[in-house]
Amino acid sequence: MIDAVGLTKAFNGRAAIEEVSFAVREGEFVAVLGPSGAGKTTLFRCMTGLAVPDRGTVRIGDDDIAALRGRARRRVAVVFQQFNLVSRLSAFENVLAGRLGHVQAWRGWLRRFERADRLLALECLDRVGLLAQAMQRADTLSGGQQQRVAIARAMAQRPSLIVADEPVASLDPAAGAGVLELLQGIARADGVGVVCSLHQVQLARAYADRIVGLSHGRIVIDAPVQRFDQPAFERLYGATASLSTH
Ligand SMILES: Nc1ncnc2c1ncn2[C@@H]1O[C@H](COP(=O)(O)OP(=O)(O)OP(=O)(O)O)[C@@H](O)[C@H]1O
Ligand SMILES: [Mg+2]
Repeated sequence: MIDAVGLTKAFNGRAAIEEVSFAVREGEFVAVLGPSGAGKTTLFRCMTGLAVPDRGTVRIGDDDIAALRGRARRRVAVVFQQFNLVSRLSAFENVLAGRLGHVQAWRGWLRRFERADRLLALECLDRVGLLAQAMQRADTLSGGQQQRVAIARAMAQRPSLIVADEPVASLDPAAGAGVLELLQGIARADGVGVVCSLHQVQLARAYADRIVGLSHGRIVIDAPVQRFDQPAFERLYGATASLSTH
């Protein structure tokens, strides 16, 4: 469904990612692991069209992401470590913003959304367990709640793929697990592909279907989660660390 082929991007002559290729199927939850600086964020920025790779392509179905504009861009939703909500708007308005690519520009500008859009936004908030907080300002919500709003906003885009770069890095363990459970549920129930970078191996093993391991900008592991063993772990993080303690 989404196909990254030969992605390469360098900064100042040094490759951040090199010849990275992998595919994500509908309904599949892929965790991307790798030490700091391995190239995860660079890869995600290339996959979402936020950065242009030096070489390689990303296709969604038959379309090249570089060629997607406006509404079609919304087929890929992004979730960030720092939530990226508009702080003075309510949870509901933030989720509605996810529909902006689906309404004519002038309507979005005037914030005159269709009734169907407003209902969808409420439904998405309900699915992340925040219907009661719909009218609360985003900056008064807890971090865990803010990330759930960001996930509801992503769902409201009706995407084919959700790309989440360290979505739980700013959350406590319980809130983090809740967010991953949500993303897993969206993948399974809605057939949305999810690609999610993590620093916690145990979370990847608990929630992902597949693990892609990046080291020095290259894929060194691409395996179903059950096959992520000690040798795979060492290839990623070095021999001094042990999988059993992660
Ligand atoms: N805009 C940039 N300008 C220069 N170098 C960059 C830029 N963005 C990334 N890099 C470099 O590319 C490499 C990969 O960085 P990237 O942020 O993709 O790693 P990461 O795997 O996301 O790390 P982390 O786990 O710490 O978030 C690093 O060496 C980084 O310094
Ligand atoms: Mg990063």
